[in-house]
Amino acid sequence: MASDATTRRPLDGRRILLGITGSIAAYKAAVLCRLLKTAGADVRVVMTPLAKQFITPLTMATLSKNPILVEFFDPENGAWNSHVALGEWADCYLIAPATANTLAKMATGVADNLLLTTYLSARCPVVVAPAMDLDMYAHEATQQNLRTLAARGVRIVEPEEGELASGLQGKGRMAEPDRIAAFVGGLLDEKKKTLAGKRLIVTAGATIEAIDPVRFISNHSSGKMGYAIAGELAARGAAVTLVTGRTSLPTPAGVERVDVLSAAEMYEAAVGAFDASDGAVMCAAVADYTPAHVSDTKIKKGDGGLTIELRRTRDIAAELGARKGDRVLVGFALETDDEEAHAEAKLTKKNFDFIVLNSLRDPGAGFRGDTNKVTLIDRAGREELPLMSKREVAARIADKLETILK
Ligand code: PMT
Repeated sequence: MASDATTRRPLDGRRILLGITGSIAAYKAAVLCRLLKTAGADVRVVMTPLAKQFITPLTMATLSKNPILVEFFDPENGAWNSHVALGEWADCYLIAPATANTLAKMATGVADNLLLTTYLSARCPVVVAPAMDLDMYAHEATQQNLRTLAARGVRIVEPEEGELASGLQGKGRMAEPDRIAAFVGGLLDEKKKTLAGKRLIVTAGATIEAIDPVRFISNHSSGKMGYAIAGELAARGAAVTLVTGRTSLPTPAGVERVDVLSAAEMYEAAVGAFDASDGAVMCAAVADYTPAHVSDTKIKKGDGGLTIELRRTRDIAAELGARKGDRVLVGFALETDDEEAHAEAKLTKKNFDFIVLNSLRDPGAGFRGDTNKVTLIDRAGREELPLMSKREVAARIADKLETILK
């Protein structure tokens, strides 16, 4: 029966290439394939030779209703499996599970199987769902590879914490199939691209002000809040430049990342990008003071105390506020007392459209954690939000920002 508006499924007409690599999590690819098919997608499956040890091509062919591709050519009749044609066919190339080995090869451009050559020639969005042991996932080599892939626009569905095939507990389990299918659905849903054509800057993380080659002044910002905002704006179709202090967080999918250290470097990067933008969200915790003199050599300790002279840094947000025009400018205020009065003063002084107040007096709010409790304040009033994940806070900020941009 032909689908109409009422029977239409979320992935009707979508072509998804499902890549499966050699991980115990490959068994979940069967469920994932079914979910994608049920949502209306046409699914083709490419497997690495090792993946066949974990799940049979027969299973995947039955579920996808398409022949399975493993080799560059069919040894029986010599028919060529064109990686270029596969990459062109797909609306989305989803590699789930993606092993540490495959991620490393993707990051370095190794092309020794059909799954990888297809990755190198794919023009569609690429999504990976890593699956591996916790130590392999946490290893700097894997994290570096993920950062490299994310910087190139590969979307990552982060693994979950839990019991691993090794019996250990930790982060590394492939995300559940329903989460991966929902992510792909969201990615391909053009209706959600409400910020397409907009160019936005997000500042995130802590700045670092050097005292000498060894010591510095900084603060507790992890970058989580700013990265969640950058990811949310990019997911809504905006071209996002993330000006970030030092952090080990992976770059959100599709975001251009500019790494900086000091407040002065953040100033240059943010102010430099502002003219060509439609606005900025100032989430970084920027040092207000920096050492007046930076010693070239390590300062030796003496018997008495040590006084370090500090001078003011330039206020990035205030500078953008002065140049704002009809751009949108969102600020943050991290307070410990008299919260609303301080936030309202910053709203006016820095010419923000609205300011996001978070207080260190609220449990679960502010630095480092995965949650925040914020109040959105503009000239018309205030909206106090309950404690929620930083991802949800980012969505609420994006909703408000969107209404201003319209
Ligand atoms: O990174 P997380 O661990 O997730 O923590 C998130 C957070 C607590 C850092 C974040 O939610 C937050 O509150 N960020 C702003 C912290 C802050 O420094 O606020 P402030 O009140 O000092 O600054 C006011 C505004 O001016 C901010 O938008 C700030 O980015 C901006 N500013 C401040 C000083 C300066 N020199 N330049 C600026 O742009």
